[in-house]
Amino acid sequence: MNDLSSRMHRAARMAHIEAFEVMEIQTLARQVEAQGHDVVHLEIGEPDFTTPRPIVDAAKRALDEKPMFYTSALGLMSLREAIARYYAQRYRVSVPASRIVVTAGSSAALLLAFGVLLDDGDEVLMADPSYPCNRHFVHALGGVPRLVPVGPESRYQLDADIARRNWSERVRIAMIATPSNPTGTLVDRETVDGLAKLTREHQATLLVDEIYHGLTYGVDAHTALESGEDIVVINSFSKYFQMTGWRLGWMVAPEGLVRDVEKLAQNLFISPSTLAQHAALACFEPETIAIVEERRRELDARRRFLIPGLQSLGFRVAVEPQGAFYIYADCSALTDDSFTFARRVLTEAHVAVTPGKDFGQNHPERHIRIAYTQPVARLEQALQRIGRLLGRKP
Ligand SMILES: Cc1ncc(COP(=O)(O)O)c(C=O)c1O
Repeated sequence: MNDLSSRMHRAARMAHIEAFEVMEIQTLARQVEAQGHDVVHLEIGEPDFTTPRPIVDAAKRALDEKPMFYTSALGLMSLREAIARYYAQRYRVSVPASRIVVTAGSSAALLLAFGVLLDDGDEVLMADPSYPCNRHFVHALGGVPRLVPVGPESRYQLDADIARRNWSERVRIAMIATPSNPTGTLVDRETVDGLAKLTREHQATLLVDEIYHGLTYGVDAHTALESGEDIVVINSFSKYFQMTGWRLGWMVAPEGLVRDVEKLAQNLFISPSTLAQHAALACFEPETIAIVEERRRELDARRRFLIPGLQSLGFRVAVEPQGAFYIYADCSALTDDSFTFARRVLTEAHVAVTPGKDFGQNHPERHIRIAYTQPVARLEQALQRIGRLLGRKP
């Protein structure tokens, strides 16, 4: 076939955009399933829970009763106010609704934040390993991600000392995620304060991804909003409220940045989904919170089952994950190539996990990420299958 698109000009930035490996694994898993095999899916960052009933009911009512026109680019005022009340109730932090911008998932919030804060060639400090899309967002906007290798010593997180050692005059943003994907570790209040101070000294911005807030086990996450009004915080309805496919999140921006975020959001998105926003109004109702809290306890039970199970197979979990729903397991005692290993685990043991390659360049070959997004019985099957492949008993 004569493929005319092969002669089309491509943007140079595409050279920096890699495939999202977890999606590639998912595609491969579907092929294994099409051959008639049962696959345990522990690759995608999405638990098996469906959206809580009160949220779905609110959406149905809204479809009948509300016009589905565009909303303001900043989102429905009633939802922004509900989010502000949530910060007051849950965190005892006062945030005016005027600083809250509702977005199409936290993905759009990240894009907007990078869009208003970065010029071509500006740098963003971020931990390696970390969420893969961040570095690609930065590249897509002409910025330069500076991946800083971090390990168990700092719980796989940046702190002020590490950031200072890696600072350059082009750094405009230091970014953390707490709890983190892929490591499930949190950043404590003093560390956020230290990073906030450092970024202030350099007229840079601290950007904190709190998308896994609510999903913590045995610890309470505090919000970075406690550490200053100049910090940009992003969050989402995807994970704690189990609304991944509804595509809704938010940003809390410093007051002086909101107008720029609004202008960019108007042009890039017009507005976030009107239906999803009406549905999300039910998120903060006590009956919804009761459902998601019950599910959080279920995720904790899965976590407590899986960590020792993996350790008994020869994986190492250097820092206990206390949030999100991921285990970043060191598999170097079992293989020297996690990429090939993840493919073998999929094609031979029929368990889908994500190789470290997705999360950066800091020894990805030694790690895989396992998402405890399936019930304990399925996790048990997964351990048995991987055990058989390795010739070990869990
Ligand atoms: C750390 C982190 N940030 C942001 C996102 C984007 O999520 P969403 O756009 O669904 O809010 C994800 C998704 O997995 C994530 O893991």
